[in-house]
Amino acid sequence: MMSQEKNDELTRVGKGTPGGELLRQYWMPAALSEELKGERPVVPVNLLGEKLALYRNEEDKLVLMDRHCPHRGADLCFGRKENGGIRCPFHGWKFDETGQCVEQPGEPEGSRMFEKIKVNSYPVKEVNGLIFAYLGSGEPPAFPDFDCFRAPATHVFAFKGLWECNWLQALEVGIDPAHASFLHRFLQDEDPKDSYGKQFRDTAADTDMPMTKVLREFDQPEIIVEDTDYGMRLIALRDLKNGSSHVRLTNQVFPCAITIPMSNEMNITQWHVPVDDENCYWVSMFTSYTDPVDKEKMREQRLKEHTLPDYAPIRNKRNNYGYNREEQETVTWTGMGLDINVHDQWACESMGAIQDRTNEHLGTTDKAIMQHRRKLRKAMKVIAEGGDRSELPLQVSDNEAKTIQGPIAVDAIGPTDDWQSCWKERDDARRKACSWDAEISN
Ligand code: FES
Ligand SMILES: [Fe+2]
Repeated sequence: MMSQEKNDELTRVGKGTPGGELLRQYWMPAALSEELKGERPVVPVNLLGEKLALYRNEEDKLVLMDRHCPHRGADLCFGRKENGGIRCPFHGWKFDETGQCVEQPGEPEGSRMFEKIKVNSYPVKEVNGLIFAYLGSGEPPAFPDFDCFRAPATHVFAFKGLWECNWLQALEVGIDPAHASFLHRFLQDEDPKDSYGKQFRDTAADTDMPMTKVLREFDQPEIIVEDTDYGMRLIALRDLKNGSSHVRLTNQVFPCAITIPMSNEMNITQWHVPVDDENCYWVSMFTSYTDPVDKEKMREQRLKEHTLPDYAPIRNKRNNYGYNREEQETVTWTGMGLDINVHDQWACESMGAIQDRTNEHLGTTDKAIMQHRRKLRKAMKVIAEGGDRSELPLQVSDNEAKTIQGPIAVDAIGPTDDWQSCWKERDDARRKACSWDAEISN
């Protein structure tokens, strides 16, 4: 259990709060590239409690700036794009791509008032279908050499979904390896041939045992947590009682992401990005180590469950997540359909907008959650005291960033009395067969 004060500290994201200041030191996914594909590439971005406008200007450059005009607050997302900048339709004030006001056509001739008017603008970076933004002060950290960034665009698919809850409880479900045996339990196994683009539907490693069976029948994993340069490595060990153990390797990427295996073919790197204190997006890069990703199929699968332009889930608290009693008795543990994302969404949203941690009772299986909270607190302290940012995970220069690779996320099976190397071997084999990956040292 924790005090209300500590819970607030961990969960609030606004500018000036300890959590908000920490999260601002990291690149955050702000939008999918596909959101700017239309005829008018301007979208609102709600990120870390800030209301922003993101657009692609005539020179194809991405610009991210405050959404509300500093004159009288009109919405610049409806602005007129002009010469690289944007003009507010209300009284015509124009802002260049740095956010500097450069014209105020209604003001008297010779007025220099515009020189003192500037809105915030922020660095952005587009990688493999995602647009990242840096809302912090000073130089942003470099991007690590993660697989999702180094893979060619053909092998990465990006998507997102809106959850109506605080980002931390959304992230914490991803560093809780025990829940998959319950929340995502399938009472019957499906044909793994239909598993493309879905999580936990493949076979376990090279066996013919479906992952659904591993999770269902072996529901007391031993969990091992190790600190790494990017955050934490989580190992969930399931003794299959036949001399071998299932090893599931996942990661927490500091401060708000995870990298996990989705299938034998693909991994997911997923950020839990705060919209504000009570809403967040999961934003994922699905990275294939084999063939190019079938983006059309992956998108179609996900659009069946979401509405645009907000990427809001069709199953949500207003329709009880599509809960069906009969399904709960015969097909799934939750009765909320076959998309495991909905199960996670229910678990996180049902806690309330911000989980009341003054009332929780963490168990042994929550050890990664506890460790992550300690790391967050420690990092907040460094930021609040103006300490050395380079002490924090992933606050790296270009050169250091090149050495932070992977992170390895894999399902493997090894001998119960000697499982330690099986995940590395399985990852090595996958990388050797991978068209875009040269030998990787990790
Ligand atoms: S509100 Fe934007 S120019 Fe007046
Ligand atoms: Fe889950």
